[in-house]
Amino acid sequence: MCGIVGYIGPREAYPIIVEGLKRLEYRGYDSAGIALFDGKDLKVSKTKGKVADLETRSEKEITKYGSVGIGHTRWATHGVPNDVNSHPHISNSGELVIIHNGIIENYESLKKELISRGYTFKSDTDTEVLINLIEDVKKQENVKLGKAVQIALNQVVGAYAIAVFDKNKPEEIVIARLGSPLAIGVGEDEFFIASDASPFLEYTKNAIYLEDEEMAIIRFHKGIKIRKIKDDSLVDPYIQKLQINLEQIEKGGFDHFMLKEIHEQPKAITDTYRGRLLRHEAIIKMAGIEDNMKKFLNADRIIIVACGTSWHAGLVAEYIFEDLARVPVEVEYASEFRYRNPIITEKDVLIAISQSGETADTLAAIKLAKSKGAFVFGVCNVVGSSIARETHAGAYTHAGPEIGVASTKAFTTQITVLTLIALRLARAKGTISSSDFRHHLLELEMIPKKVEEALKSDKHIQKISETYKDTSNFLYLGRGYNFPVALEGALKLKEISYIHAEGYPAAEMKHGPIALIDENMPIVVIATKKGHYEKVVSNIQEIKSRKGKIIGIVTEGDVQVKELADHVIEVPETLESLSPLLTTIPLQLLSYHIAVMLGKNVDQPRNLAKSVTVE
Ligand code: F6R
Repeated sequence: MCGIVGYIGPREAYPIIVEGLKRLEYRGYDSAGIALFDGKDLKVSKTKGKVADLETRSEKEITKYGSVGIGHTRWATHGVPNDVNSHPHISNSGELVIIHNGIIENYESLKKELISRGYTFKSDTDTEVLINLIEDVKKQENVKLGKAVQIALNQVVGAYAIAVFDKNKPEEIVIARLGSPLAIGVGEDEFFIASDASPFLEYTKNAIYLEDEEMAIIRFHKGIKIRKIKDDSLVDPYIQKLQINLEQIEKGGFDHFMLKEIHEQPKAITDTYRGRLLRHEAIIKMAGIEDNMKKFLNADRIIIVACGTSWHAGLVAEYIFEDLARVPVEVEYASEFRYRNPIITEKDVLIAISQSGETADTLAAIKLAKSKGAFVFGVCNVVGSSIARETHAGAYTHAGPEIGVASTKAFTTQITVLTLIALRLARAKGTISSSDFRHHLLELEMIPKKVEEALKSDKHIQKISETYKDTSNFLYLGRGYNFPVALEGALKLKEISYIHAEGYPAAEMKHGPIALIDENMPIVVIATKKGHYEKVVSNIQEIKSRKGKIIGIVTEGDVQVKELADHVIEVPETLESLSPLLTTIPLQLLSYHIAVMLGKNVDQPRNLAKSVTVE
């Protein structure tokens, strides 16, 4: 949450920071701001709204020169999104400036203390408290900025990624992290700072990822010094060569990132199983599993923790693991798990699923499970992310960067990885026959082609969207493997169109939601051929007799549902266990088109952020 960009070097900082902020807007877009040192003085411009609003504002407000600067795009935590609460924040003396991603939990007591010493505050933010605390320490202790930041951070409770500079010493930027990501792009005698590497990819592929509880002092011409915040020990900077390209994080001719990412799924799923699914040899090869096979085979149970869409992928995985590998699985919201004193033993394997690899609750659940001796395995998309580093082992989804705030390809690639793991374990445990195993490999390999087929319904789905775009409520129903897909379909619609939607197991309808059904209620029913088809058809009959409008997601060539439903959307046939990979596609497109028709900001829905680094 919140995007941070900084630059120090020979170039003009303004365009680098503004373009970088645009790439980080997925992290938050309540307000934006920039601080530049123009050779003489500090120039700050900030505004409620998006980076585009900042550009308009800064045009009038500041000269855009200067080769040192920091910028911020905000997802509000403390203080409503307005101009004053926007970052950067300046200290009382006007000398120090900060941008911050995270939450300072003890800011109120720190603020009281500072007020008692004469400090005044313009904003309601925890960040303004932090910069004044740094200023106070710097003056009281008579230390340099880096030391002052370090002492101040040792008094702070919470999470942060910060960048600070002093207008009297603008050749130096101090950064620090705890719980929120921060990367340094290392160019030739220039440095970039960002929440992820996307703002500096076009300038350098060399990156240093700061670890939790580390800070760095970045000096023009002099390089970087990294230290541990707690004990002041020096850390050797580890420079990574990044593998992603700029094209991967651009829209590539699509109107929105979300649409691009929906269409990328055939490739993303292929990339996920490439090198792992070896059909001709009839094996699945995943280093993270092979190296830890004993842990998996000896596990009493698997606990899956995740949030949001990733939690839905976890629910699909529960069906697959129990069905194929015959191992008990519990799927938990990370936010609940971490606070409910769960029973965790050394014989548990915990699988944490996260696209961003930065979700605060998931990270905390991992730390808890590790402290109890469980083996922790990560399924992440972002390489080198906090969760990827915190887990004992893991498997990347290889979906490529997902920029649209609503998760699409992350979901299907997570299911792909989890299916591979379940199949590998099933083979090792002998709970799947050799022919069934081969059949699964073959069907999984064919999924990308079938996703392409499913994507061809786009125009048809657009027409259905037109019919229902003005509805206030939607129901989504599914059974078995497609119950989590119903949840995911409802979530997609809610988050980007702001239409109320609920997902239910189809049979649960009779226990409450059926009361909602009348001629104005559209109900999306996943009714594919395999998997309780007849039962779902009965549920459809029940809806029909209450005049609900039925949108059926059916298997190609279906006849029965076609006769009952108001609309059907076909997907190719596959194994029941793999059907979520196909039935999800029309639901993504339906929510996308409805949101576009309603004029919503599909890629940046209100109040949301791509990476939830606060609990
Ligand atoms: C929904 C969505 C969120 C995320 C959730 C977890 O479209 O994107 O529900 O799935 O915030 O995020 P990750 O997977 O990054 O841990």
